[in-house]
Amino acid sequence: MTDSVSPPGPDLAAEHAERVENRWAAIMIAIVVLLIAIATFSAIYHTAVPQARVETIDPRTLHLGGEFIESNLGSALEPDGSVTVRAVGQQYSFTPACLLVPADTPVTFRMTSADVVHGFLVAGTNINLMLVPGYISSLGARFDAPGERLMPCHEFCGVGHEGMWARVKIVDKAAFAALAAQHRRLSCVE
Ligand code: CUA
Repeated sequence: MTDSVSPPGPDLAAEHAERVENRWAAIMIAIVVLLIAIATFSAIYHTAVPQARVETIDPRTLHLGGEFIESNLGSALEPDGSVTVRAVGQQYSFTPACLLVPADTPVTFRMTSADVVHGFLVAGTNINLMLVPGYISSLGARFDAPGERLMPCHEFCGVGHEGMWARVKIVDKAAFAALAAQHRRLSCVE
């Protein structure tokens, strides 16, 4: 087992193994450095470049006036044929508790919270927002076919969290238009 008497074969093999190990060590270090660089860049980037559009609103006065006063909540048919749905989340319900939207129509959800952070999710779709007090959460969507979907709060918001959910009812486009001709704001709360 002394070096002086070792045949040349194993020596070369050991050298080769060492070179391979060193190469892999360098690659591992490079990967770690790259990951640190990515994390650093994204942290700095997201701090320095805020969201393109931030809308704020005072959660204490939602019920007194403005866009989220109760009489303005629900679905509104816009002049361009699209639909805007406004709703508020609060411990432990959504207002309205049933959102009415037409199928095959561009829909914009505009939501906010009156107290703590809530979640807005429409089951079976990729509609998923956080409702943060002080901010308006806005998202465009389109529903292909009539139907009904659950809309559970998915951010833990207190002891009543699991009972906080609403429904989204998708109706035929013509049926929605007929209802919209009679009412300024629509919902499917019975
Ligand atoms: Cu609201 Cu959980």
